Amino acid sequence: MRRILLFILPILIIVTIAFIGFGIFQVRSEETRLFDELMRKAKAVAESMELSVKHALENNNISDARWLVEKFQKRERSQGCVIYNRDGNVVAITGRFSEWKDRNRPYIKDVIASKNARGAIEQFKDYSVYSYVLPITNEDGNIVGLEEVLYDTSYVFTQLAELWKRLSTVLVILVVFIILISLLVQRQIFTAPVEQLTEWFKRFQKGEIDTRHPIKEKGGLGKLASEVEQAALSIRVARRAVSEEATVRIQKEDLWTDSKLKDVVRSKLGENALFIVSNREPYMHVINDISGQAECVRPASGVVTAIDPIMRACGGTWIAHGGANADKKFVNSKNKLGVPPGNDSYILKRVWLTKEEEDGYYYGFSNEGLWPLCHITYTRPIFRESDWQTYKKVNQKFADNILEELPNKNPFIFIQDYHFTLLPQMIKAKRPDATIALFWHIPWPNPEVFSTCPYQAEILDGMLGCDLIGFHVQYHCNNFIDTVNRLLECRIDMEKFSIIRSNIETLVRSFPISVDIGINSRVDRNEKEEIDNIRKECELDGKIVALGVDRIDYTKGLAERMIAIDRFLEKYPAYKGKLVFVQLGAPSRTHIKRYHDLTGELDELAERINWKHKNEEWKPIVYLQRHFSPEEIKPFYRIADICIVSSLHDGMNLVAKEYVAAKNDLNGSLILSRFTGAAREFTDAIQINPYSIEEFADGIKLAVEMPLSEKKRRMENMRKIITDNNIYKWAGNIITDLTTIKKA
Ligand code: G6P
Repeated sequence: MRRILLFILPILIIVTIAFIGFGIFQVRSEETRLFDELMRKAKAVAESMELSVKHALENNNISDARWLVEKFQKRERSQGCVIYNRDGNVVAITGRFSEWKDRNRPYIKDVIASKNARGAIEQFKDYSVYSYVLPITNEDGNIVGLEEVLYDTSYVFTQLAELWKRLSTVLVILVVFIILISLLVQRQIFTAPVEQLTEWFKRFQKGEIDTRHPIKEKGGLGKLASEVEQAALSIRVARRAVSEEATVRIQKEDLWTDSKLKDVVRSKLGENALFIVSNREPYMHVINDISGQAECVRPASGVVTAIDPIMRACGGTWIAHGGANADKKFVNSKNKLGVPPGNDSYILKRVWLTKEEEDGYYYGFSNEGLWPLCHITYTRPIFRESDWQTYKKVNQKFADNILEELPNKNPFIFIQDYHFTLLPQMIKAKRPDATIALFWHIPWPNPEVFSTCPYQAEILDGMLGCDLIGFHVQYHCNNFIDTVNRLLECRIDMEKFSIIRSNIETLVRSFPISVDIGINSRVDRNEKEEIDNIRKECELDGKIVALGVDRIDYTKGLAERMIAIDRFLEKYPAYKGKLVFVQLGAPSRTHIKRYHDLTGELDELAERINWKHKNEEWKPIVYLQRHFSPEEIKPFYRIADICIVSSLHDGMNLVAKEYVAAKNDLNGSLILSRFTGAAREFTDAIQINPYSIEEFADGIKLAVEMPLSEKKRRMENMRKIITDNNIYKWAGNIITDLTTIKKA
């Protein structure tokens, strides 16, 4: 709009100035013409009466004189006449101008003296009058009297005002006309072709059309269009080429790497980009409390740890809640940005939620309802109707945001977690051609537990909009199939392990999630320095170091872990002063009371245990509560002789896998709760029941005293598992299964 104004405004200013100039000229000429006409008329009228007035004055015939001036009364309302005697005294005057005689009229004397006629504009009452005075002389040339013809001139000004009015109307019509024509021309020569080109590029990008660009003309726009076409064509050709190369390469490679996954995605999905949906965004922009500057932070989230390397490898679009306080500053007009910052490997689209939406959908239904429902930790789920309504609304908001991004042909959408149970059905309703997978990163409870949820049927129905639902372990797949079988009317195909409801088939499969061993075992440039700093700050020199890395969450068994350290030192006091347990705790969901209370409980517990055992040089627990980036955590993994994962219930637990991946010197032991998904794969970990404090304390002793050779043997086995089954294989298997099944 501003551009159009810049274009039209100068034209309008020039036209208006020219028109006003023309108007002034017109009005002036009209004014002169009207006054000329008036003067001529006054003179002619005066001269036509001259003889009669002379006669009346010479004969001193007052009644004739009166009769003459009264004739004006019948003429135009604006006219009048005055007859004076030779001394300049009024003899007769037209009735409507009777007050004229009271006016001071010095010019009468002048005319008598000079005997010359005089015409001038005079002010009378609140209007102006044209007066024409004619001297009347006898045959000897002596003055016998005067005759004055009067004209009210207001009609001249009325006519001029009328003229101005007409000119202004023409000006307004002209301006409107110019604006309309300019808009039309601008649309015709600029907006319409640019819109056409944009639409063409958008569709070409999405792979919906293969035609030439739509601009016919040759000039600047034509050149731009053909440049755009070349760029689009190159992208097209490059995409096809890599897709074909990818198929060939996949057949050759055995081990899953980021580039093999990239090849799988390209060969299976072709030109259709990958869409990931999660609540938590992989990169958050937050204002640093100390510096006041915005900085980019990687959140503590298993989903982010797992999916970010996949997206870095494959590209695509990740749609997530933009929940951080500086997020809005870093997006473009479509709420998107390239991430990782400075690397732009994929697109992050941020969805904005109001505080009420975040409260009801995230804190309320997702984390006070579904989270405790799915984790057996004996924390009661809370289901509020208002939270559920908000959860539905937010799922719809995400659905709308996703739908507007999808290409016209066969999109592939990969949804993460319990925040979006209704999303698959919402998308499928609008786009039945979309392939939708949902991965449930937390445990799935048995049917009795799930049936306590008042919205069970809607949740299951929503999820069954998927083509595939994945869990970490087979046990959770079985629980899900049992739940659906008991609570919904559907058909279960036990051979294919799928559910058929409303003509949609949903496959249920286990895909144990993992990490990228390469990223985690790579030694960073400043690592040695960082390790030295940590050892100094936490006073770890010469100590056996045990480590815990978690979000502060009641499912993680953090209190049990501290109590087990306490019990270990009680039972085996020889280790006092020798073992330090470092807990890195990232604050999480702190607006929920249970989480808020937990923070207090853990502070108190660490304090009490430290007080009980500490001496002047040593304390057993170093509890660091803040957000740690993956780069900051890695040196802690390297230092740790033991890593403790003691979740009371956990879908997988990627900390266990990250620790194993980071231990490239093989010198470390993993203590792992049997209630984690990771315990299925890591049979070489020291497995414990976190509820049994004696067993837990003995597990710590076992880890501390394990011979190096045994540690290395176990670590090697575990590293082999995550080398073979890494995060790229996890994603590759999901995509392969989906595409194979779709074809079958
Ligand atoms: C678990 C969930 C993830 C979630 C993460 C962190 O790993 O499965 O979906 O992102 O916890 O929780 P938060 O609520 O901070 O996203």
